[in-house]
Amino acid sequence: MKTRITELFGIQHPIIQGGMHYVGFAELAAAVSNAGGLGIITGLTQRTPELLANEIRRCREMTDKPFGVNLTFLPTVTSPDYPGYIKAIIDGGIKAVETAGNNPQKWLPALHEAGVKVIHKCTSVRHSLKAQSIGCDAVSVDGFECGGHPGEDDVPNFILLPRAADELEIPFVASGGMADGRSLVAALALGAEGMNMGTRFIATQEAPVHDNVKQAIVAASELDTRLVMRSLRNTERVLNNSAVERLVEKERRLGASLKFEDIIDEVAGVYPRIMKDGTMDAGAWSCGMVAGLIHDVPTVKELIDRIMAEAESIISGRLARFVAA
Ligand SMILES: Cc1cc2nc3c(=O)[nH]c(=O)nc-3n(C[C@H](O)[C@H](O)[C@H](O)COP(=O)(O)O)c2cc1C
Repeated sequence: MKTRITELFGIQHPIIQGGMHYVGFAELAAAVSNAGGLGIITGLTQRTPELLANEIRRCREMTDKPFGVNLTFLPTVTSPDYPGYIKAIIDGGIKAVETAGNNPQKWLPALHEAGVKVIHKCTSVRHSLKAQSIGCDAVSVDGFECGGHPGEDDVPNFILLPRAADELEIPFVASGGMADGRSLVAALALGAEGMNMGTRFIATQEAPVHDNVKQAIVAASELDTRLVMRSLRNTERVLNNSAVERLVEKERRLGASLKFEDIIDEVAGVYPRIMKDGTMDAGAWSCGMVAGLIHDVPTVKELIDRIMAEAESIISGRLARFVAA
């Protein structure tokens, strides 16, 4: 399957693995790239640019296919060493960067000069158009269903993707709620040129996280996520658990006066305890509604091959029959 996204990134299948904190290590990125998609290392999970440079080297030992790095621009006061991370990306020979969070404009000249293609993750048409206008090469359009930060507009992909298609000239992928061949065909039908998946890739053999995390996703239904931190305008979709219930209760009780410090126990520094140790109630962790469509833990290659086979069979079988004379 050839699309503007496969051409842009030099990949076989139009499937991207989105950056995921404490999940997007070299093992997963390499597995996705080896299976013909675009694997992505999560930059900020590596605490320093030196550690990111090392992670890029590790990934390169595991694959000779293109892979990328996610750089999330956080609205924090004490900023990570972004110039250092950009240098590690460029020196590491990376040609694809997924940016997310704040506007990446400041970093585009250096990245483009080094031949890096930039795909910016956006949760609205407005931000997608901005990304296009500052020179991003592609956009990842993240609908309200998505795991992680869906923004504050709450527009689901059935509306957001065709709206993006109507307005954008640069190619975009559908992100949020994508799981299988049906998702890919639907994304293409709505105007996207591929899809980005987060939660689905966590429930794979190669995802370097504790088995409890994979089993929690398999066990969850589409009703089991919650939105937290809305009043802080930092909305996050997470899997429900006892810490999340505590957090939601605090939000209800404190209302508009809620401060980040009030929920620090439930959200700060919890990822290693969940992803590495498998302590599932340690805090709030991102998970998409798509959990309801995830019932197994295949290898990444099995997953991607299955998606592509299903997508091709839907297009040339079921859909073709609807228009056959
Ligand atoms: C556990 C987890 C951690 C994530 N961490 C990040 C992150 O650090 N940076 C980022 O840009 N997106 C992050 N995301 C969002 C994903 O890259 C992707 O956009 C999202 O998962 C798509 O929705 P889906 O889960 O329905 O596939 C995370 C998602 C999950 C599930």
